[in-house]
Amino acid sequence: MKRILILFAHPAFNKSRINKALIQSIQDLEGVTVNNLYEKYPDFFIDVKAEQKLLLEHDIIVWHHPFYWYSAPAIIKEWMDLVLEHGFAYGTKGRALEGKWAISVISTGGRKEIYGSTGSNQFSINQFLAPFNQSATLCRMKYLPPFVVHGSHTLSAEKLQQHCSNYRKMMITLRDEKCNESVFHKVEYINSIIENNV
Ligand SMILES: Cc1cc2nc3c(=O)[nH]c(=O)nc-3n(C[C@H](O)[C@H](O)[C@H](O)COP(=O)(O)O)c2cc1C
Repeated sequence: MKRILILFAHPAFNKSRINKALIQSIQDLEGVTVNNLYEKYPDFFIDVKAEQKLLLEHDIIVWHHPFYWYSAPAIIKEWMDLVLEHGFAYGTKGRALEGKWAISVISTGGRKEIYGSTGSNQFSINQFLAPFNQSATLCRMKYLPPFVVHGSHTLSAEKLQQHCSNYRKMMITLRDEKCNESVFHKVEYINSIIENNV
């Protein structure tokens, strides 16, 4: 069984609809640790050694947050700047994360149609997530296709429930290694693998 660490960041969790529901749907799962960064570090003073210890104790690292300004809420960047240290996460002797998997889980206000070369946002979600992809790659991790919930403002309760159920299914699939690595490069979002029952 793989151990999954969710680095969760929402600066206004009490106002959250989508991510609150997503996180609530998986927090009871065995082998899954929810590391709520804004709750833990309201003053942004990240305990680097404690975060590195958590990374060492897990096999799959999840960056879970709403999509803010085509990226992540600020604490995710602060976490990356401080925790992914040279000599720990990257560099000749920085091999602590080697072989682990990393994945982004995001919700966006924008619908899928507005992402990509023909949409008003010009770039695809995977293009916007390139810094996460390459950071994971520099740390010798495998970056999986992201789990994405689009159109958060108009998402029906029923659709949100489906996403929650798929998020839970994804966690179990990754945790129990029920998914063949070879399928990842074929899809834009991991959602399609989960929806099609792997
Ligand atoms: C500061 C801020 C920046 C945002 N930037 C984006 C963005 O770049 N693209 C997008 O599609 N939605 C953007 N949104 C919308 C959020 O992604 C959306 O409200 C969120 O995913 C909803 O999740 P929640 O119910 O958990 O808050 C932004 C929202 C805020 C507050």
